[in-house]
Amino acid sequence: MSIVFDEKSKVFCLVTRNTEYQIKINEIGIVLHTYYGKRVGGYDMSYLYRKMDRGFSGNPYECRNKRGMSSDTLPQEYSTDGAGDYRVSALSVRLSNGSGTCDLRYRGHDIFSGREELKGLPYVRAEEDKVDTLRLYLEDKTAGLLVTLSYQVFEEKDIISRYTVIKNESEEALFIDKAASACMDIVGKELDLISFHGRHAFERQPERRRVGHEISRISSKRGTSSHHNNPFVILCDRDTGEWHGDSYGVMLIYSGEHAQEIEKDQAGSIRVVSGIADDHFRWKLTPGEEFVTPEAMLAFTDKGLSELSCLFHRIIRENICPEQFRSIKRPVLMNNWEGTYFDFDDEKIMDIADSAAEAGCEMLVLDDGWFGERNDDHAGLGDWVVNKNKLRSGLARIADHVESLGMKFGLWFEPEMVNEDSDLYRTHPEWALTDPDRKPVMGRDQLVLDMSRPEVVDYLYESISAILQSAKISYVKWDFNRSLANVFSRGVPSDRQGEVSHRFVLGSYDLMERLRESFPDVMIEGCSGGGGRFDAGIMFYSPQIWCSDNTEAINRLRIQKGTSYAYPVSTIGSHVSASPNHQTGREVPLMTRAIIAMAGTFGYELDPRQLSEDDKAMIREQIKTFNRFYDLIQRGRYLRLSDDLDEEYFTSWGFVSEDRSEALVSLVVTDVRANPEVMYVKMRGLDPDALYEVDNVLSSCERVPENEAGARENIVGQTYSGAALMNGGYAIDPMFGCYPSIQVHFVKK
Ligand code: DGJ
Repeated sequence: MSIVFDEKSKVFCLVTRNTEYQIKINEIGIVLHTYYGKRVGGYDMSYLYRKMDRGFSGNPYECRNKRGMSSDTLPQEYSTDGAGDYRVSALSVRLSNGSGTCDLRYRGHDIFSGREELKGLPYVRAEEDKVDTLRLYLEDKTAGLLVTLSYQVFEEKDIISRYTVIKNESEEALFIDKAASACMDIVGKELDLISFHGRHAFERQPERRRVGHEISRISSKRGTSSHHNNPFVILCDRDTGEWHGDSYGVMLIYSGEHAQEIEKDQAGSIRVVSGIADDHFRWKLTPGEEFVTPEAMLAFTDKGLSELSCLFHRIIRENICPEQFRSIKRPVLMNNWEGTYFDFDDEKIMDIADSAAEAGCEMLVLDDGWFGERNDDHAGLGDWVVNKNKLRSGLARIADHVESLGMKFGLWFEPEMVNEDSDLYRTHPEWALTDPDRKPVMGRDQLVLDMSRPEVVDYLYESISAILQSAKISYVKWDFNRSLANVFSRGVPSDRQGEVSHRFVLGSYDLMERLRESFPDVMIEGCSGGGGRFDAGIMFYSPQIWCSDNTEAINRLRIQKGTSYAYPVSTIGSHVSASPNHQTGREVPLMTRAIIAMAGTFGYELDPRQLSEDDKAMIREQIKTFNRFYDLIQRGRYLRLSDDLDEEYFTSWGFVSEDRSEALVSLVVTDVRANPEVMYVKMRGLDPDALYEVDNVLSSCERVPENEAGARENIVGQTYSGAALMNGGYAIDPMFGCYPSIQVHFVKK
């Protein structure tokens, strides 16, 4: 059992392989967060918090003469608004009498093995892993509120997840204005905050700064988790680097509007609160009703950012992503989007399939444009019936043709959207989220369906199911191409409009779950104009997500690196596209594009009919190489091997298998130089005492150039000790030309 309660000290210890999380009930029943860090053997860490009288910090009535006892300065496990804690709070309610005060005290607890599944929300699955649960019951008797804090301890994974259930035990309805999933106070440290900001076509860029006394808020009010601020933050020591130092990760398993708030208080303690954003949120709770927040995951390590990433990679791969896609080899796909855009018919798609098969691809994905009157991006969304002008003989013939070539067939949908110019909108204009008295805000000339309405979800389930049954379809690309606005539902009364943005997300999850249940072997790839909904919530239904609409390889280095802080390579949809690239116009060699796309799920997105025979041969070699190293890439430990300084010259990353028997190192020169420096890549995670031999090399340029001695030996066959590669580094001779690259595979001898 990884959860221990000491009756005497009233301390709960949540213990994982390397960490300990402590909660203490104080003398008046306030639930305190007293420690999260390396294991301390159950020692009561509450001594870290000194009870000092800090002026203007109020005292609970029963402690009015103990001025050091203030919820404004005590570390809180779930802080509330209105009762004297002036920091960012986790819970804010409005009672029927208009009061905004909420004051929670300990009522009791339960500890048990296993966990309860969340209904309608994604969560950390536990089937294959041991998990123990602590339920803490907190109450506000005056308000008639019961708040349950549920903690799931994944001991082996070094992860704790938590969510909150708020129940109205009063006789009157009340409103929840804010209900976070997690709240935690950290004392005694100056910390840096790392968050992941971005924009369409440039997602998840790490931004690191010192935590100051202002409130930092990493959030989205776009209806989705967004390209702009990912629901994942890191708090770390000021000197923490990739391979050393304390760091905490907080990840919300949610795809809607979210907020991570970080505040350093007057006494230097740092609070982090994570949950649904409160900007548009107001939930009416009638007597007896409960509200369940999304789940958040917490991790701590003293071994640096790479180890923190590794903890999240493992839990997402093994406990969040759908089980049936964990161990199977996922296909290398060819997607037609950048090859044809909307300009295709069935003959063209079948020709593309022929060329894709010749190049060795394993799946053909037909992207946007196959349905309704969809000839451009102004019409058709919502009408999930085949466009017979383009695909005269329907989908089944294409799917059969693709299967006859030995490939699988995949199809694009954008379920949550509707065009004004569509039969669906003409029949059901009330199914779109629009404000009754205004012209709607448009995005890509489309509207968003009201997923809070069960009849909308039913319609989508029926129409998408009919398509999936009509042909051999093995994969769905699930797109989402605008942010929400005018979030007004005709399905709920005015006092429930504040629920719509969360109900929208629940509707989307419901649709994904129902489709997954009915078509368990169809793999969903998430997408939202690239990576606009790249979060652990979507990963619960979809083991991979298109990482970015920016397919340009050199830009991708930064996007994929930023993404890797939180999410495993097995979730990162990444393709080789044409050169010059359609987004930036940059030209990058085919081998470099492939080496970069191999730090993801790997595929191609171009018109294969345009490929030369040499290119096709190269692609066949690339796919063979990717498949050979598939397990290592998808399930090995991911390594960020270059730092900011290196990256003025080159970017490097790698993979090491869990058993340290093999490793793969990739490097791309981004700033080619004359008379340049040798590049040294210090590897990590190898067996220091073992010998490693290079047994395979891919490179965009000739790797054995002559010199006056004619003496640069072939790289393949060279051996190094693990200690040498980790301490001295692997030496890569300068490379020349346009964005040269190399990928080297090492095997333990
Ligand atoms: C945005 C996606 O990210 C693209 O890959 C493509 O599917 C387009 N939508 C299609 O409209």
